[in-house]
Parts: sequence; structure tokens; C-alpha cells
Amino acid sequence: MKKRLKVLSIFAAAGLSVSAFASEGGLVLPNDEMPNYSEHRLTMSMQNGMQVYMNNCMGCHSLKFQRYNRSAKDLQISEDLMINNLMFTSEKIGDLMTNNMPTAAAEKWFGTAPPDLSLIARSRNPQWLYNYFRGFYADESRPYQVNNSVFKDVGMPHALEALQGIQDKTEEVKGLENDIAYAHGDIASASQKIKDGGKKGELNKIISEAEHQIHEKEAQLAELSRQGKYFTLIKEGQLSPQDFDSAMVDLVNFLEYIGEPIKRERKGMGVYVLLFILFFTAVAYLLKKEYWKDVH
Ligand code: HEC
Repeated sequence: MKKRLKVLSIFAAAGLSVSAFASEGGLVLPNDEMPNYSEHRLTMSMQNGMQVYMNNCMGCHSLKFQRYNRSAKDLQISEDLMINNLMFTSEKIGDLMTNNMPTAAAEKWFGTAPPDLSLIARSRNPQWLYNYFRGFYADESRPYQVNNSVFKDVGMPHALEALQGIQDKTEEVKGLENDIAYAHGDIASASQKIKDGGKKGELNKIISEAEHQIHEKEAQLAELSRQGKYFTLIKEGQLSPQDFDSAMVDLVNFLEYIGEPIKRERKGMGVYVLLFILFFTAVAYLLKKEYWKDVH
């Protein structure tokens, strides 16, 4: 019993430190779930995602672990269609999916060179990507006049502006963020006063009141985001917000495919492996019965 308690308390401590870490990183919004497709719908989604990628991303981000013909085969795109419509940075269908982005110059342009995205769906995760692509908003203070609510101060321009248009945070969101910033300011100045020998009791009360405020306002922000009231369009794009979201699902599905091209085969194979194990268990059982029948 004692041992079990000890184990439990270790888990509890680990849990506490994880949640402390999570709150340190601050609130990341939007954090919407991405719809899940399968079968034919998934294939069509990946095809469309590849089209979005080739037209908007390939100039900056290579996918250098993948070849065009492999994508064509897996995504059921004919090689002619691939060569004529989706290959802008290579000539041969057997080429790796690279581009000609000069790394050193790119670092100068963007602050960071655009990374290869072959494995991005594994190093980040699909939900993060889905929200990142939908998280660009107007911010005059940034070099490209946009910021990203999921990846703060990102060096990437809003590559999908033509499709999405430009969105801004809603007034409600801006108000809440202001309140949170003020509360953080209150905490900082009260902490400083404590350090300088101020009245602890009173100052601690100010701090806990401010923390409470932050907690409450963050919950309101999360609620606004859930209701789709985090951003508002200030300039329309070619796609409606619904169509844009759906195109982003496609884009992420494509990146997920690129991150593990045999994922679907692996899953399909799993069923056969399980069936084989079941079948083999039955055979082994019958065999055992046969061998032992004379012993008893
Ligand atoms: C004009 C060049 C450019 C274009 C076009 C572009 N990006 Fe980027 N992207 C960048 C740069 C530069 C960064 C690195 C930003 C940073 O780390 O601050 C980046 C970062 C990213 C990241 C985050 C990588 C990480 O560190 O986790 C993802 C994901 C991404 N881009 C996806 C895309 C997709 C998908 C498209 C097409 C819709 C696209 N990018 C179009 C330049 C570009």
C-alpha cells in the first residue's frame, strides 16, 4: 500500500509540473480540432492539399525526403497531371521535391530560413498545424504586417493571404488581452515592491487577485475562440472562411501523408496481422488438443 502511494505521488508530482509548464507557455488560440477523414475522402483531401502546397509553399519550403512520382502514385494523381500542373521547381517526375531557396539569403529576408517540411507533421502535430495556418492576423508592428497567434512573431509572411484574406483579432479579444497584460503588470510591480521591502500581506493579495483575473479572462478568450469569435475578416480572400478552413484540413492531411507515406498501408496491414494471429491461435489450440488427447 505504501509503495503504491509513493508511486501515485510521483505521478501526481509529474502531473503538477507538466501543468505548471503548460501555463507558463501561455494560452495558445485558436485550438480547434481538425476533422478526421478516411478512405476516398482522405485521398481527395490529400490531392487538394498537394495542390495548395505546390502553389503556395513549395517556393520557400522543400519536401526533400519525397519524390514526385511517389506522391503521384500514393495520391492517385496521374504523372502527366503532376508534371504539367504541380511541378514548378523540378523537371523530372523521379526528382526529389526540392526548391532553389538560397539559405543564407533567406535568413536575411525572413530572419530564419524556411525549414524543409518533410517531417513537420511529426515534429509539430496536425492540430497545431491546422491552427497555425489559420492563425495569421494583421499586426502593423511586424515586418510583413502579420503576426500569428499560434507561433508568436513568426518570420513567415502570410502565404495564404490571397485565399484567406486578412483577419484581425475581434475587439472583445483585444480588450481581454489588454486586461491580461495589465494584470501581468500589476503582478510584476507588486513583486518588485515585495523585493524592495513593501508590505507583504497587502501586496500578496494584489498578486493573487491579478492571477485570478488572468485566469478568468483567459477562460473567456478560450470561449470566444470556441465560438469562432476570436478573429474577424478585415479583407476578404478568394475563399469563404468555411472553404478556407476546409482547404487547411487538406493541406495538413497532405503534410501528414508526406511525414509518413506508408501510414495508410501500415494501418491496412495491421488488420491482416491481427487476423493471422487469430487464425494461428486457433490452429495452435487444435494442435495442442491433438497432441494431448492420449496423455490424459
Ligand atoms: C516567402 C516564403 C514562405 C512561404 C511562401 C511559406 N513559408 Fe512557411 N515559413 C517561412 C519562414 C521564413 C519560416 C520560419 C519562420 C520562423 O521560424 O520564424 C516558416 C515557417 C513555417 C512553419 C513552421 C515551422 C516550425 O518551425 O515549426 C510551417 C509549418 C510553415 N512555414 C508552413 C508553410 C506552408 C504550409 C506554406 C504554404 C501555405 C508556407 N509555409 C509558405 C517562409 C515561407
